[in-house]
Amino acid sequence: MHGFDPEIAKGQAAAAALDLVRPGMRLGLGTGSTAARFVALLGTRVAQGLQVVAVPTSEATRAQAAALAIPLANFNEIGELDLTIDGADEFDPKLRLIKGGGGALLREKIVAAASRRMIVIADSSKAVETLGKFPLPVEVNRFGLAATRRLIAKAAQACGIDGPIELRKAPNGEVFVSDGGNYIVDCAFSAIPVPEDLAARLNAIPGAIEHGLFLSLASAVISAGPQGIAILGNPDAGI
Ligand code: A5P
Repeated sequence: MHGFDPEIAKGQAAAAALDLVRPGMRLGLGTGSTAARFVALLGTRVAQGLQVVAVPTSEATRAQAAALAIPLANFNEIGELDLTIDGADEFDPKLRLIKGGGGALLREKIVAAASRRMIVIADSSKAVETLGKFPLPVEVNRFGLAATRRLIAKAAQACGIDGPIELRKAPNGEVFVSDGGNYIVDCAFSAIPVPEDLAARLNAIPGAIEHGLFLSLASAVISAGPQGIAILGNPDAGI
């Protein structure tokens, strides 16, 4: 991995994704350091005259886009989005993802599901054979936190999975609160051999508002690494 700089790789993946943007597109804007690279590049294009409208997946991305004068759409009025570009914490060869390290998984999933195409941008360190080394974030209602945590552990055990489930803290030591006002628990399961099984079980827990397993949502992953850009899937699928 001599000479590999993830920060440069993030910019390369973001630049490759910018090539997919066409005038008039309705875009979903992801959250996190890689998505922020894309938003910055998009802002430059907009300043040069590119016309697009965008829906941000977090208040942080909203602020970044607004500062760059990227036109923001009313999500309730805009209809289906053409393309969402977002980062990921992990991706596997089947385009399955773990997201939510930045705490924006609920809005990210809503926006991805509202898009004809979701394309992931990442540095190659995010590639895994089996999801789960990155602790799986689950956004939970504050009410009944302990009960929900027990049900998450039970769901995992039914899938043959185990590991600590920690309530996420913000850097200031306070409990982290998502843009939607919810808590997040991070599930250190080490490996999630059948993500569809766990996702179905988590979906059935009332207090689990959403989880960070993004399955059948990404059309492609554009990753950048020491060998350059690699594309998994078909970035044009769904055009
Ligand atoms: C935000 O909630 C996450 O889903 C991010 O997309 C993910 O954490 C990737 O972030 P980085 O690009 O900063 O690694």
